[in-house]
Amino acid sequence: YENKDGNWGGPPRDAGFNSFGGRSDRSKSAFFNDRGTGSRGGRFERGGFSSGGNSRWVEEAREDDWSKPTAPNERLERELFSGSNTGINFEKYDDIPVEATGTSCPKHIEIFHDVDMGEIIMGNITLSRYTRPTPVQKHAIPIIKSKRDLMACAQTGSGKTAAFLLPVLSQIYTEGPGDALQAFAYRSHVRPCVVYGGADIGQQIRDLERGCHLLVATPGRLVDMMERGKIGLDYCNYLVLDEADRMLDMGFEPQIRRIVEQDTMPPKGIRQTMMFSATFPKEIQILARDFLEDYIFLAVGRVGSTSENITQKVVWVEENDKRSFLLDLLNATGKDSLTLVFVETKKGADALEDFLYREGYACTSIHGDRSQRDREEALHQFRSGRCPILVATAVAARGLDICNVKHVINFDLPSDIEEYVHRIGRTGRVGNLGLATSFFNDKNSNITKDLLDILVEAKQEVPSWLESLAYEHQHKSSNRGRSKR
Ligand SMILES: Nc1ncnc2c1ncn2[C@@H]1O[C@H](COP(=O)(O)OP(=O)(O)OP(=O)(O)O)[C@@H](O)[C@H]1O
Ligand SMILES: [Mg+2]
Repeated sequence: YENKDGNWGGPPRDAGFNSFGGRSDRSKSAFFNDRGTGSRGGRFERGGFSSGGNSRWVEEAREDDWSKPTAPNERLERELFSGSNTGINFEKYDDIPVEATGTSCPKHIEIFHDVDMGEIIMGNITLSRYTRPTPVQKHAIPIIKSKRDLMACAQTGSGKTAAFLLPVLSQIYTEGPGDALQAFAYRSHVRPCVVYGGADIGQQIRDLERGCHLLVATPGRLVDMMERGKIGLDYCNYLVLDEADRMLDMGFEPQIRRIVEQDTMPPKGIRQTMMFSATFPKEIQILARDFLEDYIFLAVGRVGSTSENITQKVVWVEENDKRSFLLDLLNATGKDSLTLVFVETKKGADALEDFLYREGYACTSIHGDRSQRDREEALHQFRSGRCPILVATAVAARGLDICNVKHVINFDLPSDIEEYVHRIGRTGRVGNLGLATSFFNDKNSNITKDLLDILVEAKQEVPSWLESLAYEHQHKSSNRGRSKR
């Protein structure tokens, strides 16, 4: 997102493309870097695809049936599908209550084979080693397959990306080019493109000009492209708003409305619209009402809840003690695990990174003042384990799917609970276990009650001081209604 912190193109790529196929996030990232930097042609030629340049998706499409897989490419296959990262608690997802409301809601599936998503998708699901759908996938896939609009909420790391991408891509494959990520576009004719702020727009425009069936975009940059006449949305059949809450938080509502309502995109009812989020604040409900037609509301678990796979700890730490406390935590962390440390400000991020560096820790940082390249580099260093500690501002709170993040530390707690839920959701993904430690002191009293509720609900240990603080807080502000959730 191009966010309040500056321009970050991270989430679309990291949330979307890198979400697929499990372990090797890094290789997928590299794959996309190649797309972005124009070295793609060579790579595909070597890999055995027919001609150079961008031909991988486009040229073969002319001759063949879109629903049939194109020739396999061993090298690409290794890069895209190098492992599975499903954790030991994957089965536990089945206990999460699911609520689906709306007129004639299609029945959910139990296994991927309960619906036919065509040869390409089914093949790529197998290659990704997705043995069973997650709850949000069980419900969302048949809803989307039956062309219904959908608003879906499900916990962090529960597979929302594939929940919309698999059925949408499968529809594109069956309907063919007449009617636009990586692992699931493999061996298909669909050509994906990315458009996001903070990166070279010229390169993105050139990439788009080669044709695009699936566009992943951030609102600011997309409006820019539309205004330059580089993109028309007249033929947009499927619209997905992933993490719409985040986009609204960052003040992108005018851009979103400009894209969806004030240009040439087909109206609701004609296009199919899907919205996904881990939280569902009021503003999103309004957006859902405006953008969706006769939609199904799907909630997996309580909306905005955290995964029980994350052990949450809240410790009282005064500002002055934070650094030494952090060092203690880092020293107690296993060698191969990654730790993500959240701070409130960009300055704070730089200062903490410097401090850790001086203390001899291999760490890196990302925040809004970092250039796109620096951020990509930092994420790369972190993913690869070369810098197993990443200090970040809220720019890294959502969508990022990096396996092996074992510990999320809120060096500074955020002021709202949704942000907290997203941040700690960077660990404990797809049934893996994770740990989240938050430093709490007088500065954080505004989040007390919400934090307590979240801890209780996720069956976490609640420090007694937090309980009494919440009690005091509630009595102080008892005449003001709670509006967050
Ligand atoms: N059915 C499945 N089986 C195994 N792994 C899966 C399955 N579905 C998705 N995954 C993996 O789960 C991880 C998390 O998925 P994803 O990023 O879509 O979560 P999310 O719900 O969008 O989380 P967030 O709210 O943080 O954005 C990814 O690495 C993805 O490859
Ligand atoms: Mg996501």
